[in-house]
Amino acid sequence: MTTDSLDTDLLNTDPLTNLHPLERQIFQTRVDLYWPDALRPLRLLYGDRPDFDAWCDRLLAIVAHGYADRPVELRLLDLRRQSQPDWFQQPTMLGYVCYADRFAGSLRGIDEHISYLNELGVTYLHLMPLLKPRPGANDGGYAVMDYRQVNPALGTMTDLAGLAAQLRQNGISLCIDLVCNHTAKEHEWARRAAAGETVYQDYYLMYPDRTLPDAYEQTLPEVFPDFAPGNFTYYEAFDRWVWTTFNEYQWDLNYTNPAVLAEMLDIILYLANQGVEILRLDAVAFMWKRLGTDCQNQPEAHAILQAFRALSRMAAPGLILKAEAIVSPPQLIPYLGRGEGTNKECELAYHNVLMVLLWSSLAERRVVLMTRALQNMPPIPSGAAWVTYVRCHDDIGWAVTDEDAAEVGLSGFGHRAFLSDFYSGGFAGSFARGGTFQHNPRTGDRRISGSCASLAGLEASLERQDAAAAELALRRILLIHNLIFAFGGIPLLYMGDELGLLNDPSYLDDPNLADDNRWMHRPRMDWAKAEERRDWWSPAGRLFRGLTDLLAARREMPAFHAQAQPQAVWTHNEAVLGLLRDSPRGRVLVLANFSEGPQTVPGYRLYELGFGMRLVDRLTGRAVDSAPGITLRSYEALWLMPEAGSREE
Ligand code: GLC
Repeated sequence: MTTDSLDTDLLNTDPLTNLHPLERQIFQTRVDLYWPDALRPLRLLYGDRPDFDAWCDRLLAIVAHGYADRPVELRLLDLRRQSQPDWFQQPTMLGYVCYADRFAGSLRGIDEHISYLNELGVTYLHLMPLLKPRPGANDGGYAVMDYRQVNPALGTMTDLAGLAAQLRQNGISLCIDLVCNHTAKEHEWARRAAAGETVYQDYYLMYPDRTLPDAYEQTLPEVFPDFAPGNFTYYEAFDRWVWTTFNEYQWDLNYTNPAVLAEMLDIILYLANQGVEILRLDAVAFMWKRLGTDCQNQPEAHAILQAFRALSRMAAPGLILKAEAIVSPPQLIPYLGRGEGTNKECELAYHNVLMVLLWSSLAERRVVLMTRALQNMPPIPSGAAWVTYVRCHDDIGWAVTDEDAAEVGLSGFGHRAFLSDFYSGGFAGSFARGGTFQHNPRTGDRRISGSCASLAGLEASLERQDAAAAELALRRILLIHNLIFAFGGIPLLYMGDELGLLNDPSYLDDPNLADDNRWMHRPRMDWAKAEERRDWWSPAGRLFRGLTDLLAARREMPAFHAQAQPQAVWTHNEAVLGLLRDSPRGRVLVLANFSEGPQTVPGYRLYELGFGMRLVDRLTGRAVDSAPGITLRSYEALWLMPEAGSREE
């Protein structure tokens, strides 16, 4: 073939000849449709290589194999997804995130807890890393030694495919991690590289001496300054410095080598063909290195993602991609595609900025920074959605830019330091119980570990047997969940947060985990506590019921579709966040009080916002008059819409 026109006889190539002519024609149509979207990023990445055309052929051959191998049920899924391309943007979507072993013992064990997930209303299940990790310490599974095998402690690939099908029958899409920035040093490619095979040495970034590593280090930050300082590791056995952004045993892949992209594409299609519907692409910001930069968010990293998307769509359009790029606001949105890549990169990305701002506002009891920072973020493409969350398995890094902070009269550094003090419990009067993660004395940066409930004050209040403080903590937890539900996109519940599970210190007893305090917020599921969810008066019952009530209301809110994006608005009350949505799907104003005391939003402001009328709070069904103002109780949130029949304005 030539890369510009697809005059190839692809359809007569080996894997496709056994397919029904209609199936082959469908494939040809998709290739015609998506090839320009693949070619553009591929040219940016590899266009200068003399063997560029041959690589394009190779990639298409991989795609053809992936298509030919796609099971019938998944071809039908592809059809469904393409017929309803906004399936993941619906307000009915709810994600749940857990470790298979910590939630249910194994992949098979999950079966018996599907009813629990259904009770919550889960439509998307993210099982934390489950592909075969290296033995011993493995960064919570993010050091994979075989992408085609499941961690034997959890089950087999057949179990995974069976689970995916079982979940699908129950209305739940399976999401798993694909660690595409690095492999474990025990991966076959790495072992062959270490044995001196140059073909595989070229899969990684290896240097004979410190010249280039030193040059790169000038501008490289450190991700794990505490337990993995520096970005390179020396191996005497084969006399090379290897690029290791994360831990020593996680070797960064070399995407300047098209063979790496081809291998990863093959793995993507293999996993999609097991029934995985969403791939969480790990640490994508780091996939391309450039001297003189922080080696994050490079245009080529976006090109890799765009190539993955266009090529995987040809074989498995039911698959969607989620970017895990925990970066600052201006760097974040491009992962959802922009410019020519609009709607052609990842469908999903984590809204770490919203997450950080929720915690920031709880600490401050003010929403000024949150309002301004959200206003400063441009809208996302129509075909994308945020994944919203309050906690995940990782630490919280304070993604507040100096610019946003300065606009509201704060020092960025000072505010970030305040938040770290507050959530590590070092700030006088703080309600939070958390731990400092990766203190970097050079930059002063300190990140935070801790479970949602402990950070929100439940742990300290229960310990003190202070019922009033516990009540406030429960309200905080419900408030921030309310907002991730109301924001649009896929809200993620992190396992145990629905029951208020506290920090778990047991990781300290395991030498493979003890140095990484992120394990304090990765507890085992407490099924006894889950039984308390039916007890309305227990903290677990309050939370479970509170969350499911919110979710039931959300499902009835077409105005919360991800395409109807929220706009942060000033409410003229510094403790009350306003999120306005105005779209053909409906007009809704979310008000959220971030303080312990009652707060009023003045009637004239509601009038200015177009809500000067009789309103209804969709959470309680209660009618609310906008004049003379609306008073919210401690940590209360309202979802306001014009009352049916009321005069708009
Ligand atoms: C991602 C994961 C994190 C892991 C890192 C390296 O950020 O969320 O847990 O340590 O990637 O794989």
